[in-house]
Amino acid sequence: MLSFFNKKIRRSTKVFNKTFEEFMQTGVTPQEGHTALIDLFCRTNGKFNDTINNKIIKSAPKTNPTSTSKLWNSIDLNYSNELNNKLEKNGYVDFKESLPKELVDKIYNFALKNETRMAPNYDKKVLFDPTNFQSEIYRFDANDLANSIEIQELIMDPFLIDVARKYLKSEPIFDFPAMWWSTSFLKEASAEAAQLYHFDLDRIKWLKIFFYITDVNENTGPHCYIEGSHISGTKPKEILKKGYARIQDEELEKYYPKDKFKTICAPAGSIFAGDTKCWHKGTPLKEGVRLVLEFEYTTSLFGANYDKFIMKNYTPEFKEFCKNNSYYSSNFIFE
Ligand SMILES: [Fe+2]
Repeated sequence: MLSFFNKKIRRSTKVFNKTFEEFMQTGVTPQEGHTALIDLFCRTNGKFNDTINNKIIKSAPKTNPTSTSKLWNSIDLNYSNELNNKLEKNGYVDFKESLPKELVDKIYNFALKNETRMAPNYDKKVLFDPTNFQSEIYRFDANDLANSIEIQELIMDPFLIDVARKYLKSEPIFDFPAMWWSTSFLKEASAEAAQLYHFDLDRIKWLKIFFYITDVNENTGPHCYIEGSHISGTKPKEILKKGYARIQDEELEKYYPKDKFKTICAPAGSIFAGDTKCWHKGTPLKEGVRLVLEFEYTTSLFGANYDKFIMKNYTPEFKEFCKNNSYYSSNFIFE
């Protein structure tokens, strides 16, 4: 096993420490700092992230008391404890609650009426035409999503925040919303559309919550993950040597038993949370389209440098919420 005192680890740790200090002063992560984080994650099988994160969360503000969810007013807030236990163990968990049908419809309509950017260039904005695909993936700009009132409702939902808070063991920062259409344009695995197994590593520690906005079955690109593979020290060393890479199923099948490969088929409105340090991927679509909304929550913005959200369209309630939860909402800028 690699020791933390390995020479290469020492070198990357030095770069990490220097760039983390810079990040604390400027809010910007130098590229070499993010590269050092990825290197350290791979060399220590995730243990470096755990150590650093434990230090980071000590300086986070104390947890705000949780109020009742507006979307699921009957929900027992202890339910987030139950979800958290499953998340810790398996890396992923399905929620028993779904999005209200009315909200699913509103988000679906938003996705038809607002422009997206399509792979591979993402250079110009186009409306998605479900009858005529030109690409395997169409992504929405995070800033447009942040300015959607429907999505703001979910961003400030106390139950979702509580799930993130419990898993991160810290007051979370809302990192970003993402939403994208996947299509059957290619009919084969696309690295661009994250259809090969990989782990994410934009941050030191994070949690994602996914919302299926269309029905997802075997043919329409279900999300897949390897159960328990988020746990530090458990990834195969030989694969981690490849670094931040996309991995073929057959390679991972050598290391993980079949029953750990999970596929999430579920109707529109379904919600699940995942620590995408787990090996995960989307399946290539055989037919139709898939629309997924995703939120990322984190303990620190060190890592990828994303733009903050310039708020132009919001409810007074959302603005007030951001004012009262300034740590959670530090990515939202009101002009
Ligand atoms: Fe991913």
